[in-house]
Amino acid sequence: MPAPGYVVDLDAGHAQQLARQIRAQGIYAEILPRTRVDELPHRQVTAVVLAGDQSLAPLLSLPEVPVLRAPTEPWQDAELETFLNGLEVPRTWTPEAIIDAQVAAIRQRVGNARVICGLSGGVDSSVAAALVQRAIGDQLDCVFVDHGLLRAGEAEQVERDFVAATGINLTVVDASQQFLTALAGVHDPETKRKVIGREFIRSFEAAARDLVADSTGGEVRFLVQGTLYPDVIESGADGATNIKSHHNVGGLPDDLQFELIEPLRELFKDEVRAVGTALGVPDQIVWRQPFPGPGLGIRIVGEVTAERLEILRQADAIVREELGNAGLEREIWQCPVVLLADVRSVGVSGDERTYGHPIVLRPVISEDAMSAQWTRLPHELLDRISQRITAEVAEINRVVLDVTNKPPGTIEWE
Ligand code: XMP
Repeated sequence: MPAPGYVVDLDAGHAQQLARQIRAQGIYAEILPRTRVDELPHRQVTAVVLAGDQSLAPLLSLPEVPVLRAPTEPWQDAELETFLNGLEVPRTWTPEAIIDAQVAAIRQRVGNARVICGLSGGVDSSVAAALVQRAIGDQLDCVFVDHGLLRAGEAEQVERDFVAATGINLTVVDASQQFLTALAGVHDPETKRKVIGREFIRSFEAAARDLVADSTGGEVRFLVQGTLYPDVIESGADGATNIKSHHNVGGLPDDLQFELIEPLRELFKDEVRAVGTALGVPDQIVWRQPFPGPGLGIRIVGEVTAERLEILRQADAIVREELGNAGLEREIWQCPVVLLADVRSVGVSGDERTYGHPIVLRPVISEDAMSAQWTRLPHELLDRISQRITAEVAEINRVVLDVTNKPPGTIEWE
């Protein structure tokens, strides 16, 4: 690999965007915060892009390194492209090259040891697992805790499609009844999250213990995590081990200690998707929109019950299908569908009054979920979704649209 390019982050807010644009051209670029710019003269550097409008003294000692000033957002693609074309470096940053480098690094680090990985059905854990499986095959064991709070078809995507595509060893823990029991009578959003987090760790821990106990042919030494580059940059932990406080591994007890393998720590989300596709991970997983760990549990306002989950799943499946048919699934960031289970709304059907529940559509566009704008979906599409949900899901007689940006509203309702 040639030496990286560096994007120096001068707090103008577009450093990540620039790094992504450079990498999309096949040139590996890292982000360096302004506070660490004096490291540059000690590194191999292909080029420097300044994301912001200051001159920096340490760059004076790098007279032979090309520097581009990109003072403001949005930065012109054409100018960046001209600059990159002038560099004459090979464009080697491709999904295949990323996979080859990671496979070699993982093999070297793991040796004959065994590795476990918790799958959530999301993009990051799936691609991380597929990459590690490519490197060490059967030395990897994956655990999927089905908490019963996933959307229609998602558990099957993990248990069947993902396994078929990757050949991964998978232990499925069906914990849905356990979660429902633990959630009975719980209305408060924060308590729900705590209950779900606690049950999740219990289930994962039990499965991990079983794997450790059963393990033949080597000690279970490593745990795979799907930490991405933005998490690394944002935690300021570049170089140090960054443990993402993810609900599915955050609370493992002290006597169950693993070293972390984070094969996606250098990658942005779009690169993770490209790597996933190159590894043969199914499209429904690679292109899955972000989905919260506590799942549908925090999209039912009110107590979580099996019946309410079923209602929400039906409505959510209609929304996803219609967004997909309209070709919008990859354009919008997320569209939570929220069941206002404690609200009785009055409707009319034939000559009869009905009492049902409202359902909320929350389509948003976003770069990183820190802020978001409500999406202007076509009225015809909204109409079709509304007609279908009220016709096909008996308990719902009202469909409403959330038109709140974040801030002040969060993306999820709970
Ligand atoms: P909010 O609601 O805070 O959500 O605007 C921001 C993003 O995070 C997701 N989210 C979660 N993800 N565990 C997760 O793994 C959680 O408890 C959780 N809560 C929210 C949300 O879907 C959105 O993408």
